[in-house]
Amino acid sequence: MPLRLAIIGTGFIAQYHVRPDADPAQSLFPDGEAEFVAVVDVVEERARAFAEKYGIARYYTDADEMLAREKPDIVNVATPPALHASMAIKAMEAGAWVMCEKPLCSSLRELDAIADAEARTGNWCSSVFQFRFGSAARHLRRIIQDQVVGKLLVGTCHTTWFRDAEYYAVDWRGTWASELGGPTMGHGIHAMDSFLWQMGDWTEVRAMCATIDRGVEVEDTSSATVRFASGAMGNILNSVLCPHQSTYVRYDFQRGSAWTEGALYDLNNERWRFETLESVDDKTRERFQTIVDDLPCTHVVQLRELVADRLIGRQPLVSGPEARRTLEFITALYKSAYTGEKVERASIVPGDPFYESVGGSWAEAAKKGSSS
Ligand SMILES: NC(=O)c1ccc[n+]([C@@H]2O[C@H](COP(=O)([O-])OP(=O)(O)OC[C@H]3O[C@@H](n4cnc5c(N)ncnc54)[C@H](O)[C@@H]3O)[C@@H](O)[C@H]2O)c1
Repeated sequence: MPLRLAIIGTGFIAQYHVRPDADPAQSLFPDGEAEFVAVVDVVEERARAFAEKYGIARYYTDADEMLAREKPDIVNVATPPALHASMAIKAMEAGAWVMCEKPLCSSLRELDAIADAEARTGNWCSSVFQFRFGSAARHLRRIIQDQVVGKLLVGTCHTTWFRDAEYYAVDWRGTWASELGGPTMGHGIHAMDSFLWQMGDWTEVRAMCATIDRGVEVEDTSSATVRFASGAMGNILNSVLCPHQSTYVRYDFQRGSAWTEGALYDLNNERWRFETLESVDDKTRERFQTIVDDLPCTHVVQLRELVADRLIGRQPLVSGPEARRTLEFITALYKSAYTGEKVERASIVPGDPFYESVGGSWAEAAKKGSSS
């Protein structure tokens, strides 16, 4: 029997959860290991049209009803951000594993509730971070772990995208309450997640945030310096003000550098460059430069891995503590920018406004401002 998949929220991003990567005629699961059986959207017409377009048997306007009737094995959550945690928890309680769009939740408190639901139900909630699933990311991970060209010393992670007034005209965007942050939480989160995963445990962050040129409540730019347990340092920039849109990520090792400049989301093999010092021998250089497979950074690649995980009961990559790494970092970045102080890992605990919401005091100040 194929695993039963369902998707909640059939807006813009949902198509990427169900669409095969390259050839639309190709099946998402050619070996029949899973199939989408239902979709949900509060806008009935959207749900109906989506189900029809992708040949999915049933559509609903209520997530609880869908969960009770369909009993899916995996639920993809693609609603606006503020609903993610509650949807993920109810799906796990109904017996499903979850692949939830980023940002996974709105606070460390919600993250703890998700972790609690994972422990209670025995089901896993995996955050969509498709950048970790391409072959280039897996290659880099091996290169770093095996120290092929020495230790990783310095990292750069820049998400410099462009989002204009039309983008912010969508009602849930631009506010702390519903978008949960600006480009730090919404856009740079992808590159930062893969970057923090590659660089290893972070220990402290110093940051600045500003709303320079968009009429929104959240930041439109953030910049951070981060220190890692290994002693390495990293530099992070997130902005939605940059007409030359790019995602630039770079890793500098003792004897070589690897970097990519992708157009937004496509940090795939062909975008990566690998250079070594001349003194590096040919065999080592070849290992450093040769990416074995050619899987792109897509939702579908992540979903296929999740299906394989569920079939053998293996914990998915971006769940549990791996989901915490990035959300805790972003929370610390916002806190550092607000307080002007460095923020250390594991220092944000219950009682801290930044534990209650990722935007912490920024979000509280915005709420006060809008009610006065
Ligand atoms: N991973 C990525 O690369 C990527 C890219 C873009 C957006 N996203 C994320 O995907 C999520 C959705 O973004 P989007 O651009 O598709 O938004 P969207 O507004 O186009 O779609 C959201 C959909 O959810 C539906 N919805 C709202 N409340 C619901 C409920 N209670 N039950 C069922 N459906 C409900 C809406 O009607 C809408 O159709 C956001 O969290 C966003 O940050 C991820």
